[in-house]
Amino acid sequence: MDTNTLFTLAIETSCDDTSVALVNENGFVLSQMTANQDLVHKDFGGVVPEIAGRQHYESLVPLIDQLMSKNQITWSAVRGIAVTSRPGLVGSLIVGLVTAKTLALIHKKPFMGVHHIEGHILSAFLNEQSPETNQIWQEPFVALVVSGGHTQLYHVPQIGQYETLGQTQDDAAGEAFDKFAKMLGLGYPGGVLVDRYAQKGNRKAYEFPRSLMKEDHYNFSFSGLKSHAQRKLLEIGEVAPVLEDLSASYQEAIVDVLMYKLEKALRSLKLKKFVITGGVSANSRLRERAQELASKNQWQVLIPPLKFCTDNAAMIGLAGALRIKKGEFSPQTLGPVPREELR
Ligand code: KG4
Ligand code: ZN
Repeated sequence: MDTNTLFTLAIETSCDDTSVALVNENGFVLSQMTANQDLVHKDFGGVVPEIAGRQHYESLVPLIDQLMSKNQITWSAVRGIAVTSRPGLVGSLIVGLVTAKTLALIHKKPFMGVHHIEGHILSAFLNEQSPETNQIWQEPFVALVVSGGHTQLYHVPQIGQYETLGQTQDDAAGEAFDKFAKMLGLGYPGGVLVDRYAQKGNRKAYEFPRSLMKEDHYNFSFSGLKSHAQRKLLEIGEVAPVLEDLSASYQEAIVDVLMYKLEKALRSLKLKKFVITGGVSANSRLRERAQELASKNQWQVLIPPLKFCTDNAAMIGLAGALRIKKGEFSPQTLGPVPREELR
């Protein structure tokens, strides 16, 4: 590429997607390539850690080669290497981490271990317009991270500083979607299918519980909703004729709770900006409600496009690039951490 921009090579292998990208510190994504593992885990109804690690091992290096050659990027155009080091499946994280460290040693580049959730939050600021475009907020904002593994609400006074306001006490929002899809026999991962059926359904057809709405904190709980759905489906028996109404009503219960806590946080912190990221931010109803909330109050909202909502390397690249630009780097001794709070 004919530009003076230096790119960060990003690697994300924390769960079941092998993803690589070239990103600069403005959030410009030159290119991203992802090898999806959905097909290999499908028959098991969930991600099998051992298989995920092996798949990363097979896919990662060829994917990096392709990314560099397709974009005609040489190592002289690479500022550093960013890789997800936490949290995630250990066997999956190790593949990315060892590859990043090895490339850093060979090519004498700094490498930076990135917290997966910081990546999700910053995915809101990615752009594909130009290396000079920069839409990263300098003002404080609220971030809702909703994925298959996380449901967290953060106050972000500035990029790099994260205060947890609340989180799920049991299932993640994505899990609530996936488990419901499984009960309906829709397969895995089912969130996107529930979303699709819901688009043609009546959101008021069935009543589902909204947990922890009256409590004075920002935590979430979705296990009650799941058990309620289980009982409801038993009652109904043949679900096929009411699949759309069921999906719409169930989805609305999840979206209501997420939006309620998000709005409450914005009002109590007196903030006017928010981002929603993570796989569940792909949900069309959540997107619609977020846009409504923002326009009603003249607030600003950013929700990344679909390919940057689910796990992806570009978001890890931006988080890493911002730190590498400040002169930060991780030691070669950095290891994977399966669980760690973002701070
Ligand atoms: O961020 P992500 O790719 O992986 C994790 O870090 O968990 O999120 C995946 C989750 C899955 O639970 C999936 O069902 C959910 O995001 N998801 C959706 C939609 N698309 C993906 N949930 C609801 N509606 C969607 N359209
Ligand atoms: Zn994720």
